[in-house]
Amino acid sequence: MNIAANPVIEADQTVYLKDYQKPSYLVDSIHLDIQVYDDHSLVKSKLVMQRQAAGDLVLLGRDLELQSITLNGKTLTNEQYQLDAEQLVIANTPDLVELNIEVLIHPESNTQLEGLYQAADNLYVTQNEPEGFRKITFYPDRPDVLSVFTTRVEADKKFPVLLANGNLIEAGEAGEGRHYTVWQDPTKKPSYLFACVIGDLAVLKDRYTTSEGSDVALEIYAEAKDIPKCHIAMEALKHSMRWDEEHYGRPYDLDNYMIVATSAFNMGAMENKGLNIFNTSCVLADEEYTTDAAIMRVQSVIAHEYFHNWTGNRITCRDWFQLCLKEGLTVFRDQSFSEDLQSAAVQRIDDVAVLKSHQFPEDSGPLSHPPRPDHFVEINNFYTATVYEKGAEINRMMATLLGKEKFRQGTDEYFKRHDGQAVTVEDWVAALSAGSGVDLSAFLIWYNQPGTPKLQAQGEYDAANQSYRLSLKQSLKAHAKYPNLKAVPIPVALALFDAETGEQLVLNAEALFENGVKDGVYLFDQNEASIEFTGLKAAPVVSLLRSFSAPVNLEFNYSDEQLAFLLQYETNGFNQWQAAQTLLERILLNGHNAQTYLDAIQKTLPFVIAKDPLLASRLFDVPTEGYLGSRIDQDYNPIVLNEAREALLNTLARELGGFVKETYLSLDPIAQKEFSQAMGVRALKNIMLSLLARQGDSEVFDLAYEQYQNTGNMSERLGALKVLVWNDSPQAQEVLQDFYTRFKDEALSLDQWFMIQAAHPKATAESIAYLTSHADYDLAVPNRIRSVSGGLNANPVNTWSFGVQHFIDLAKYLDEKNPIVGSRLLQVLSRWYTLAEPQRSQVKAELEALKSQVKSKNVSETLNSMLSI
Ligand code: ARG
Ligand code: ZN
Repeated sequence: MNIAANPVIEADQTVYLKDYQKPSYLVDSIHLDIQVYDDHSLVKSKLVMQRQAAGDLVLLGRDLELQSITLNGKTLTNEQYQLDAEQLVIANTPDLVELNIEVLIHPESNTQLEGLYQAADNLYVTQNEPEGFRKITFYPDRPDVLSVFTTRVEADKKFPVLLANGNLIEAGEAGEGRHYTVWQDPTKKPSYLFACVIGDLAVLKDRYTTSEGSDVALEIYAEAKDIPKCHIAMEALKHSMRWDEEHYGRPYDLDNYMIVATSAFNMGAMENKGLNIFNTSCVLADEEYTTDAAIMRVQSVIAHEYFHNWTGNRITCRDWFQLCLKEGLTVFRDQSFSEDLQSAAVQRIDDVAVLKSHQFPEDSGPLSHPPRPDHFVEINNFYTATVYEKGAEINRMMATLLGKEKFRQGTDEYFKRHDGQAVTVEDWVAALSAGSGVDLSAFLIWYNQPGTPKLQAQGEYDAANQSYRLSLKQSLKAHAKYPNLKAVPIPVALALFDAETGEQLVLNAEALFENGVKDGVYLFDQNEASIEFTGLKAAPVVSLLRSFSAPVNLEFNYSDEQLAFLLQYETNGFNQWQAAQTLLERILLNGHNAQTYLDAIQKTLPFVIAKDPLLASRLFDVPTEGYLGSRIDQDYNPIVLNEAREALLNTLARELGGFVKETYLSLDPIAQKEFSQAMGVRALKNIMLSLLARQGDSEVFDLAYEQYQNTGNMSERLGALKVLVWNDSPQAQEVLQDFYTRFKDEALSLDQWFMIQAAHPKATAESIAYLTSHADYDLAVPNRIRSVSGGLNANPVNTWSFGVQHFIDLAKYLDEKNPIVGSRLLQVLSRWYTLAEPQRSQVKAELEALKSQVKSKNVSETLNSMLSI
């Protein structure tokens, strides 16, 4: 008999958008009773349900120990339902159902940080988006089932804080040293927005009066020692509340708004209704302990989660394919908020830098997917740069096209139509179109197809006719899974400059109107088109995609001199930066001479420094190796790129000569009144310090040491520490030890200590092993893992040598312990296929070998996609 082994064919676990079906039952109300004990928790639930479509009653549940279940008062026996690892199904149920269910769960040993989990000795929290609620109890755990939640939380009195969403309606003794609270959330919500917190935390309180005159209690919960670090977040919260009233007409709707900080959190933060749960890294902000960048991030994440109250909570997603509906819109809103906090040009630069260094590479590789995916295995894998950042760009394009007033009419219509509903991307675009009176339906194409469009532009000056013709062409790289790629609408914001004087040209209004250019924006929505500008006495210099008006790769045959011209004369700060970036990219990737850039930067800098030091600091941004690597599609050799980049930085340092030290010594952050100005001065100062080190300045280590010791500001301290450590200065060990002693009990600061060492340009497998075996390294805390992994990955030479094993080992370990984070970290290796041989084959073999060693849907799906190229 032939006994050749049959391959095990796993059931296809893929979920498709096209298969969406309404749930058979809606939940009118849910009463939850969560009792936390040291070695288990007991969850009792009462669901009142009503049929809305034919079909079995389906409750989703994972890792639950079912104790009992009754339906309309009668206990169900095992034969009366079907239970497997993912769901509990009851057939032939009546139209009105009351279910009472009791389950046991184990938050105390939940390392995946999903569902209810013990985050610290003194803290239990929840994370239920997207599918964590099913790890708390059996429920139709999908975003299109909205219900009124009443929650009783009971625990030992060693946990004085017992929180859930909504209003506190009762509290009392539960006997045996225990107590309880009962909370009722008046707004219907999907289960992913449910939260509860059981802990021993301190609280910072404040109040806010909405535009409608109602009074809101604001509370931020954190460790007692961290309460002084919660003031910036509190101010940002109040600021966000005002901002949403003023810009979108959206006041807050509950009597309280609570934020709880925990250091054990997979992501940044979570917008649970009225009870946000935050990674400490996105709440705690204090110049002494956290960097300027972290302070900016705290403010933007506070705003992001707050803005979700309308875009996400009041109006939610019909299904998880629509994730970018709430995330793309909310990111666009938080980016706009942040543009009001600092130099708007720099905010745009920073947002585009993230887009280009994360989303563009993602979208050009094996993990590429449309902003609204049409299938997935594990939805947790789709909290991506494409869904968030490209999603935000789509909204920005529509907002740019509409202008402020019409965009507001559109969003007003959206809130009017869909408040209280779970909707789709189509609903959003339809409401925006109806409210503004502009048909935006073509923008749906952006949501539905992957890839970064290439925008090729060409300019031709006709001296006889005194006209300039700009020709545009768009294309997308062919994609096996999406054969019918269509042209997308691309708003091209543009300006023309006088090549002699550097002045922006005032253009002939009539001709512009005929060409479809309105308020400086041309909507390019064909495969090819051209615009003619008339009345030009000489060839102009054109500046395209001002403020990055569309997420595309622009190709325009600028000469280096024209780019230098734009760096100097463009009044749009973003395009000034972009001109510098393009010049630098040409030097690094195409071997152009650096002189044009050097001349331009020396001419421009003094003016920019005087006006906007933060923008000036960004003009020194030399594209990261990670970003440059993503521009290389084959035979990528990280060592060659690293050497080119080092050489350029050394040239820059040398050519700037005495300017570097002069500037360093002249900058004084203390003299700045505004935080954003001081932040700019600090950024610039740190850049000058590192250039000084490249100059081999004999004093540089003394200056750095002085800066390290004499500051109370984390950005200054870290800037100095970096220079001392990365250059192996005589003071390196002393300052590292000093930093450790100062901050060993401050997790976020200590993360920086790990990060700086991991990012040492000459890091080795051994130096990384020293960090990962350090007593303060902790695989249960994602922030700590990310500090070392992120530091290591700052240098692709290291990532693609000993780093490969580091990331594979992490994926293997986290596959079981924390698959959400494991899957993310593995994605660092997704561009393996671009490497030059023999590295390419070596990494491929290691990834192939990993396949049989991982089980989670998260890591397996990522690995399969990565290898499917
Ligand atoms: N909705 C949260 C936010 O954008 C993020 C939740 C991410 N959760 C996850 N499992 N990936 O603010
Ligand atoms: Zn969000």
